[in-house]
Amino acid sequence: MIRMKKILVANWKMHKTRREALSFLAALQEPERLSLKIAAPYTLIAELVDACHGREVEIGAQNMHEAASGAYTGEISLGMLRDVGAKFVLIGHSERRHLFKESEEEIQAKVERAVVEGFPLILCVGETEEEKTQGETEEVLKRQLLSALEELSVEQLEKVLIAYEPVWAIGTGKNAIPSDVNNTHRSIRDILFQSLGAAPPILYGGSVSVENISDFLRFEHIAGALVGGASLEVSNVNQMIQKIEFLEV
Ligand code: 13P
Repeated sequence: MIRMKKILVANWKMHKTRREALSFLAALQEPERLSLKIAAPYTLIAELVDACHGREVEIGAQNMHEAASGAYTGEISLGMLRDVGAKFVLIGHSERRHLFKESEEEIQAKVERAVVEGFPLILCVGETEEEKTQGETEEVLKRQLLSALEELSVEQLEKVLIAYEPVWAIGTGKNAIPSDVNNTHRSIRDILFQSLGAAPPILYGGSVSVENISDFLRFEHIAGALVGGASLEVSNVNQMIQKIEFLEV
């Protein structure tokens, strides 16, 4: 049986200068049996794309504006991302939803823009601690998923990845239980299959580390990881690559 390549996405958030980013790349191990992506700050994309030419690592962005162009001071369009060689974009990260009050309507509009332009995207979803305590996880995920993806065809879904990131596990060191995450991913798959007829691969994010990455990725429905804090050190990423490459699944 051919093993589907696991996916490792580093989300650098608002970290790294050009010099730091290039020295990271210089020390980065070449992945062979996994797909490696870096969601970089806008200022680093062009240079990282050049530096990654011919290498097995894809550079993308952490956000975008939904309009093609216009009077939106401080914003970045998808055309601009494409122009500097970005290959994917994160949409609806929990920090965008909660710190920057991005609404489900805006997230849907961003998804639509990416889909119209045939650009790969990673849609991030996840419940807060309060929603989890209230037993609302499935309902929240269903709303976030369908409000963003409902209009997509099976063919359009091929350019989409989902990242399940429970808000309470992001940057907190609080680990979700891998078997619970696998069950949540199964529910996400069921929701998407029932409503859209297909389900993209689902990544997990939230305090993923060198120590715990294998515990998550050995599960069938966990297609990969979206890693924040632990992805800033190249030695950590190299160790994660090693662990994933030798994972028996
Ligand atoms: P941490 O890995 O720092 O918890 O961040 C997760 C995340 O938000 C990745 O997008």
